[in-house]
Amino acid sequence: MNFRKQPDRDMAQPPDLSVSFCGITLKNPIIAASGTFGYGVEFEDVVHLHKLGGLVVKGLSREPMIGNPPPRLWETPAGMLNAIGLQNIGVRAFVEEKLPMLNAMRATAAKQEFAVFANVFGYTAADYVEVVRVLNDGEGIAGYEINVSCPNTADGGIVFGTDPRLLDEVVAAVKRVATRPVIVKLSPNVTSIPQMAKVAEQAGADALSLVNTFVAMAIDVETRRPRIANVTAGLSGPAIKPIAVRMVYEAFRAVKIPVIGMGGISRAADVAEFMLAGATAIEIGTANYWDPCATETIAEEMLRWCVEHRVERLSTWTGGVVL
Ligand SMILES: Cc1cc2nc3c(=O)[nH]c(=O)nc-3n(C[C@H](O)[C@H](O)[C@H](O)COP(=O)(O)O)c2cc1C
Repeated sequence: MNFRKQPDRDMAQPPDLSVSFCGITLKNPIIAASGTFGYGVEFEDVVHLHKLGGLVVKGLSREPMIGNPPPRLWETPAGMLNAIGLQNIGVRAFVEEKLPMLNAMRATAAKQEFAVFANVFGYTAADYVEVVRVLNDGEGIAGYEINVSCPNTADGGIVFGTDPRLLDEVVAAVKRVATRPVIVKLSPNVTSIPQMAKVAEQAGADALSLVNTFVAMAIDVETRRPRIANVTAGLSGPAIKPIAVRMVYEAFRAVKIPVIGMGGISRAADVAEFMLAGATAIEIGTANYWDPCATETIAEEMLRWCVEHRVERLSTWTGGVVL
């Protein structure tokens, strides 16, 4: 028998979880994060995709990539290290094979509507431009998320997202050709998030998303070898959440464009926390690794959470932290 006080359910209407940014309206702010949800189609039998606001597909490059050698994943206390190496089928195969499958899934019934975002990366500004050009011809994409956490091979390997000049160059180049909203996914491996957020905004970004993973490393003291073949890797999961919340808060205050937040989200209260910090919508990544249904579970929990907290319109929470 459950003796706990039950939520007061006399709200006149069910809570409105919908959020809007860049002319895109999502039924709720829950989006599956890039690299943790395949091309979306793999999750069709696992998650009711229509219960999500949307999903971001794996990072797409000009040509297919096989990624890094194993081991590529390592579990840490409250987190995960990964150095997948951006393995993907290449943008053309995505547009020709995966996108039609996603569109067919959404066409079966109106309720199947969920937004599909394409994540883009490259090693030169020209790579990014070429990937976006190919995506422009694909149907049913809501927007482009530009992953700038990649080394610029034409510029000595400096990561695009850690250098203001390179960030400006790549965002401006992508904006010149993109026919859809451009969401710039900032690197957290910088000294000043406000500075990089402003650079991306001034270069034309329609929205920002953050955070990507933090550069990290783990060593097996028995073998004295790095846990990950690539030596360094990206840290994600609950371990990074408070840093990610701080960065979303800083970005939100620095720019006027919408901010999409992520980093360690694993329950409805985390979503609310990121929204209070300034997120319009959020993404869920590593949680999919311990529970492939995490996105759907959190979307359902969000509705109950709003009822319990008497939130009528979740979008009003964006930036609402009380200082
Ligand atoms: C295995 C793995 C692969 C990832 N691949 C990508 C990627 O291709 N493009 C990208 O922008 N971010 C990628 N990310 C970063 C996530 O989308 C997300 O920004 C990060 O993991 C923080 O969120 P989380 O703590 O909820 O996982 C990847 C993360 C993981 C764990």
